[in-house]
Amino acid sequence: MSEDLKDYLERTAEQVDLMLDRYFGDAFGELFKASAHLLLAGGKRLRPAVLLLSAESVRPGSSDDLMHAAVALEMTHTFTLIHDDIMDGDATRRGAPTVHVKWDEPTAILAGDVLYAKAFEFITHAIADDRARVKAVAMLARTCAEICEGQHQDMAFETAEREIEGFEYIEMAGKKTGALYAASAAIGGILAGGNAVQVDALYQYGMNAGIAFQIQDDLIDLLAPPEKSGKDRGSDLREGKQTLIAITAREKGLDLAQYRRSDLTPEELDRAIAELEEAGVVDAVREIAEEKVATARRALSVLPECTERQHLDDLVEFFISRSF
Ligand code: IPE
Ligand code: IPE
Ligand code: MG
Ligand code: MG
Ligand code: MG
Repeated sequence: MSEDLKDYLERTAEQVDLMLDRYFGDAFGELFKASAHLLLAGGKRLRPAVLLLSAESVRPGSSDDLMHAAVALEMTHTFTLIHDDIMDGDATRRGAPTVHVKWDEPTAILAGDVLYAKAFEFITHAIADDRARVKAVAMLARTCAEICEGQHQDMAFETAEREIEGFEYIEMAGKKTGALYAASAAIGGILAGGNAVQVDALYQYGMNAGIAFQIQDDLIDLLAPPEKSGKDRGSDLREGKQTLIAITAREKGLDLAQYRRSDLTPEELDRAIAELEEAGVVDAVREIAEEKVATARRALSVLPECTERQHLDDLVEFFISRSF
């Protein structure tokens, strides 16, 4: 990643943190505290960055008016994380205990719901043309329904009595993760007054980048140390998730079912990784992520050449090279 982009991401994360701290820093009452817990635990803040960079690349200077919209996307994301951790039975997120572990499941469901609602409140505070704001709200609403559908597929694939195919994984990842990146980019474009061609290109950029992001997330689940990722390692394997890794492994004749146990040891996890690497599964999966990145980059060509477009271009490389 270029030093410029690194600086940009750091500055954006600081601004997001500042706004979140202003609204959630002195949370009172257990439910509000539970809502604030993960929001204030950090995170890369990449969706706000995508929204602001997309807005700037359509109309320079527009991102100053869109901080509330950027934060709305981070709230939406964090709401999905709180609920996802219940579904996946995970105990650690952003290096902190998950909400349902620190509190309990009912509180975590409600804490997520609060953020879901707050996200819509926040996006209406964007300073933009009224029609653009309505479009942005509609897109966020559609996106939330799409994420639910993706998450439902993700869970249903775990227990399906048939073999899940690679294209089905791509469709599921597009919904659970691609859709929110697509919406981040497109909402930035909409609120900045972009035309239909630009908004559509930004949507395609975010969708493809988001699928690549999820493929890398699956690799991180397997390969990255928890100190680095801030999440439980090997969660997908233990749960029997139909990730592209698991699907490709099956296609190459490897059986991961033996690792589908809650008491999986670190040694067994290391053995699984060695098998997957040796069979070329990791390389094959990385190649598909690279194809998605190339598609995301091509979508940017209709935007005016500028620093922010270059940042969006560089950012997708980070999506598939990161270890956190
Ligand atoms: C994790 O998202 C969930 C996925 C969509 C894979 P991030 O990796 O962006 O998580 P944070 O926000 O940095 O914690
Ligand atoms: C979930 O994917 C993506 C969401 C929409 C929340 P994962 O279940 O792989 O995300 P992590 O690994 O727990 O962050
Ligand atoms: Mg999860
Ligand atoms: Mg999940
Ligand atoms: Mg994951």
